[in-house]
Amino acid sequence: MEDIRDKFWAIGGGKGGVGKSIVTLMIGVSLAKLGKKVILVDADLGGSNLHTLVGIQYPKHSLADFINKKVETIDEVIMNTPVENMRLICGADDILGMANPKYTQKTRILNHLKKLDADFILLDLGAGTSFTTIDFFLYAPNKIVVLTPQITSIQNAYGFIKASLFRYLNDTFSKEDEALNLIKRASSPAQGDGIDSVEKLCDEFRALGGPYHERLINCIDTLNIKVIVNMLRDTKERNVSNIVKSVAKNYLGLTIEDLGLVPFDNILSVSINNMAEFLSKRRDSMASIHFYDIASNIVKSYQKLPTRNPALMAPKISA
Ligand SMILES: Nc1ncnc2c1ncn2[C@@H]1O[C@H](COP(=O)(O)OP(=O)(O)OP(=O)(O)O)[C@@H](O)[C@H]1O
Ligand SMILES: [Mg+2]
Repeated sequence: MEDIRDKFWAIGGGKGGVGKSIVTLMIGVSLAKLGKKVILVDADLGGSNLHTLVGIQYPKHSLADFINKKVETIDEVIMNTPVENMRLICGADDILGMANPKYTQKTRILNHLKKLDADFILLDLGAGTSFTTIDFFLYAPNKIVVLTPQITSIQNAYGFIKASLFRYLNDTFSKEDEALNLIKRASSPAQGDGIDSVEKLCDEFRALGGPYHERLINCIDTLNIKVIVNMLRDTKERNVSNIVKSVAKNYLGLTIEDLGLVPFDNILSVSINNMAEFLSKRRDSMASIHFYDIASNIVKSYQKLPTRNPALMAPKISA
């Protein structure tokens, strides 16, 4: 049976301003163009701004209403966007500790989200590696890390991936003290401590006997992370994802795949204050074409698509 969570895609990346929200929006728009029912979720609790990007200045409803139980079900806070087939759940501002919901609140959000009628649910995550952000990232079986060619972004993307893996391992082995202690040592090895890579952690787990090693390998194999390199300005930068991929392989044992490259697009950059107009008129934008290709590949990974129409049509936008 198809796992209901398959429709979840989380978009994170550690660093602020690398384009997580734009990537969420543009992939969402492209999937909607491909006839898929899309719901964007602004999971940047405390720093939400996805509504602004789709041209909604003052959201009537937001996740805050759901978290505060002003509404019973999450469909009551879904808003239409000017893009046909694409709806939005606005994020909550950081009032009353909204940026750090309790475990039960997070679980309630995710339990309601998974019941929604949509082909794709895209979670736009905030910057940083807070537990809330990482938990949303881990919940989605499809995980995208956005980075730019800047060295700081590469470092933060790796830090975000590492934090996600170790939170996943901590959760998985939360009741097994011996294993937890080894995981802790591997996550921040003290000088001279032998466990400075996941490969060495695997050796330690093998020595524990039983199914420990197999379960660890299973965690590593199921962490399905893909990267998008955004804001490329030079073809020489095409391979920056290799840096993250090779460090993640060598130190974390993770196989990370490329999902796509998106060039720096001046039209997109200057349109940030009026994205609704950009979405309706800028069908020729370079970045839009790359986002469309990424969305097509995402859909193709679920089913065979008819050949891509290179004449990127503008999505239907209401007045
Ligand atoms: N491919 C691109 N070409 C040009 N500008 C871009 C591109 N992608 C994103 N930008 C610009 O970068 C800025 C930051 O984008 P965005 O808000 O999506 O980043 P973010 O990672 O979500 O930031 P935050 O962590 O603050 O939520 C925006 O002004 C946006 O227009
Ligand atoms: Mg953002």
